[in-house]
Amino acid sequence: MANDSHARPDIIRIAHAIFYVTDLARSRDFYVNLLGLNVLHETDGALYLRGVEDREWTLKLELAPEAGVKHLAYRVRSDADLEALITLADTQDLPWRWESEVDRPRLLRLQDPFGTPVAFYAQAQTHPWLLQEYHQHRGPGLQRVDHVNVMSPDVAGTMRWYMDELGFRLSEFTEDDDANIWAAWIQRRGGVHDLALTNGAGPRLHHFAYWMPDAMSIIRACDILAGARRPELIERGPGRHGISNAFFVYIRDPDGHRIELYTSDYLTVDPDFQPIRWHLDDPRRQTLWGARTPRSWFEEGSLLEAFEGGWVRSQPARLQGIPVNVI
Ligand SMILES: [Fe+2]
Repeated sequence: MANDSHARPDIIRIAHAIFYVTDLARSRDFYVNLLGLNVLHETDGALYLRGVEDREWTLKLELAPEAGVKHLAYRVRSDADLEALITLADTQDLPWRWESEVDRPRLLRLQDPFGTPVAFYAQAQTHPWLLQEYHQHRGPGLQRVDHVNVMSPDVAGTMRWYMDELGFRLSEFTEDDDANIWAAWIQRRGGVHDLALTNGAGPRLHHFAYWMPDAMSIIRACDILAGARRPELIERGPGRHGISNAFFVYIRDPDGHRIELYTSDYLTVDPDFQPIRWHLDDPRRQTLWGARTPRSWFEEGSLLEAFEGGWVRSQPARLQGIPVNVI
């Protein structure tokens, strides 16, 4: 049901993810030594990382017995928006509580109606960016958090909730002949997406994406992984998506969490922007150049932490099958 009884929260953008990892030294080697993410804070059992444009940490790695995702977080405009989210949660019987994190003293953790752990905050301690501290740039130069992609057993329902209740807008979507929606790209900040929803068993995290300065920096990331004798961590690409027009590569961290390095999409800020529809069987939507997508990309994802602890139980996808052009 659309939100018409209370103020809609003003969500600015996707802001961070917290990954549980099983070997912090191994993860540090991947994210810091190879990818060049910058360590903003370090505590016993956790690393807080950011790209060179990020003024806050955007990825926390937390040591845990099992790999998974604690939550995905969005920044909101003000404390009033957090109150609006609490009203929404109470209205829809969604569990919520206050938590705190380094630099983020008031973090509203709730569970969306589909089981995804999400968190929201308004206030954050910011830090000078490193964008023009070129002498400190390392590795391929990850620039800023860009988006998150969640595998969802009910893409249409999830998309509708985020649009109706949280004000997300649709950029692109994949549909079959029966008007089933297999994937959707929705946004708050005027780019192609803050959140992508992909048909699959879940909810699970499909990937977390960083914006890159250019296509060469993505190729450099591949060269660095190859040089380190870790080419098996390159799962898909590099290539150019039809959807979003972005140049991309997907890589897997030592725990299997999937990271996308992404650049060169487009703006959606004009009020007359019309969502772009792709047919499910159009191979150009996945990769404009026609390269095939490995099956693992459709089937594997990271577990999400349940509100009461443990993992969110995966539900089978409502739509069954894998699109064409898969190896
Ligand atoms: Fe993506």
